[in-house]
Amino acid sequence: MKQAIMTLKFTSFLIASISMLFIYLSVCQVVDAATCTNSQGCGVRAFLADLQQEVSQLDCISSKLNNSIAILMSTNSSALNSQIKTRVKQLNKIEAAKKMLSLEIAPLNDQCNKQDGDNCDLACFGLAPSKYPSTVCSGHGVCSSLDVCSCYPGWSGSNCSLASCNGILATNTSSVCNGRGTCVSNNTCVCNSGVYGPYCEPIIITGDDTTGRRMANGVAKASCLEFYQAYPYAESGFYYIKPQTTEVLVYCNMTMSGGGFTFVRRVAAAGWWPLNDNFGGSGSGIYNPRSLSAAGVTFGLDYSNIPRTQVLITTGDGVHWILVNLDQLTSGYGGNDCTATITLLASSISPNTPYSVQVCKRGNFNEDPWLTTHNHFYMTTDSESHSMLWGESSNTYWPYWKTSHGGINVFIR
Ligand SMILES: *[C@@H]1O[C@H](CO)[C@@H](O)[C@H](O)[C@H]1NC(C)=O
Ligand SMILES: *[C@@H]1O[C@H](CO)[C@@H](O)[C@H](O)[C@H]1NC(C)=O
Ligand SMILES: *[C@@H]1O[C@H](CO)[C@@H](O)[C@H](O)[C@H]1NC(C)=O
Ligand SMILES: *[C@@H]1O[C@H](CO)[C@@H](O)[C@H](O)[C@H]1NC(C)=O
Ligand SMILES: *[C@@H]1O[C@H](CO)[C@@H](O)[C@H](O)[C@H]1NC(C)=O
Ligand SMILES: *[C@@H]1O[C@H](CO)[C@@H](O)[C@H](O)[C@H]1NC(C)=O
Repeated sequence: MKQAIMTLKFTSFLIASISMLFIYLSVCQVVDAATCTNSQGCGVRAFLADLQQEVSQLDCISSKLNNSIAILMSTNSSALNSQIKTRVKQLNKIEAAKKMLSLEIAPLNDQCNKQDGDNCDLACFGLAPSKYPSTVCSGHGVCSSLDVCSCYPGWSGSNCSLASCNGILATNTSSVCNGRGTCVSNNTCVCNSGVYGPYCEPIIITGDDTTGRRMANGVAKASCLEFYQAYPYAESGFYYIKPQTTEVLVYCNMTMSGGGFTFVRRVAAAGWWPLNDNFGGSGSGIYNPRSLSAAGVTFGLDYSNIPRTQVLITTGDGVHWILVNLDQLTSGYGGNDCTATITLLASSISPNTPYSVQVCKRGNFNEDPWLTTHNHFYMTTDSESHSMLWGESSNTYWPYWKTSHGGINVFIR
């Protein structure tokens, strides 16, 4: 009985071994025929996967054979000698085949680890797009085929590492950024000190906040707007304007509401609006452009000779402001109520859209108009949302914005 069971076991072992060998041979045949096998595709990457799968199958067969041979040998049965020899030969063949496959797999694996695509052939200068998405082609282009980068606009070089600014390579230092700055990235110049504009435009305004700025060609400008029109990259700061025969140092703000504003009046947080001239342009006190945000200083520059069409009235901290055409403030007086209508071009509550408000334009009150961001009668209490930007010098209730927001500054353009 025991003998019978042993025989049965051995027979089934043999059948199993033969079928395993059959699998091994069929796998080898598939690979040898280089036939596309399955969903992994038909390229080098799929072939590599086939090889790796084959090695693991061979490992399995080899281990079974090895263990079986050890058992067979331990029986000391001379009847099995030739069978054992055959098995040992098979085992050796499988081991040799595994060795060959490993030799083959190593370079393919190496290549496919570095490069993308079905054939492990897509990489630019050693970087596969899927593995190095932020550094392939220097992060400034697409690796479109082997070692070919298609650079994004503004970048060039085989590896897309060369920035250009305004079409001139960063390495062309005498020409790029007009020779007055460094091209650090696509169309991004970092300009030398005192140079402005997207491509470090030629300097046409000289001087600085200490000396005051003037046109480099010596031609005088009558307002901040004229400087701004000559050179849109002009920065805010101190400029000499010459409205008539005398030069005056003024402060220009070149960024707010489109730029080109000349600072003309300041009203201190404490005290009253001093200039009741219907915005005619008369002077008061000693104009000092460097006291733009000084506490306790009230003055007005006589601006009657400075070319102008608009006025911007703002709290010292810039929180509340209105922009209006000057002719809306200088003309049309005579009514006796406070329902005259003017258009605010923009304001802190409507920075982009003009709108109408009612103001006082009474016949013999040259403190008029009182101005806020709303209708005149909106100013009903002394509060953050109900205060005035310009108004009667003696009013007690409504200068809240002036007293709590750093005074009032007036600019013309
Ligand atoms: C076969 O098994 C023996 C131990 O029984 C081991 O030393 C040998 O490395 C094995 N050979 C293979 C190819 O697995
Ligand atoms: C096989 O032979 C060896 C040495 O000749 C012996 O030590 C061992 O016990 C034998 N094994 C069997 C299963 O007879
Ligand atoms: C291409 O750029 C990458 C990323 O900046 C860099 O690692 C690689 O060395 C460059 N190759 C060449 C050939 O310039
Ligand atoms: C390069 O700059 C130009 C102009 O500023 C811009 O249109 C383009 O999108 C930029 N290219 C890249 C890749 O950032
Ligand atoms: C530098 O740029 C200028 C202006 O585009 C061009 O004329 C010149 O040939 C460039 N020089 C070099 C070395 O590329
Ligand atoms: C110019 O005006 C803007 C807007 O009010 C302000 O943010 C900026 O600080 C002013 N510039 C200077 C240099 O004062």
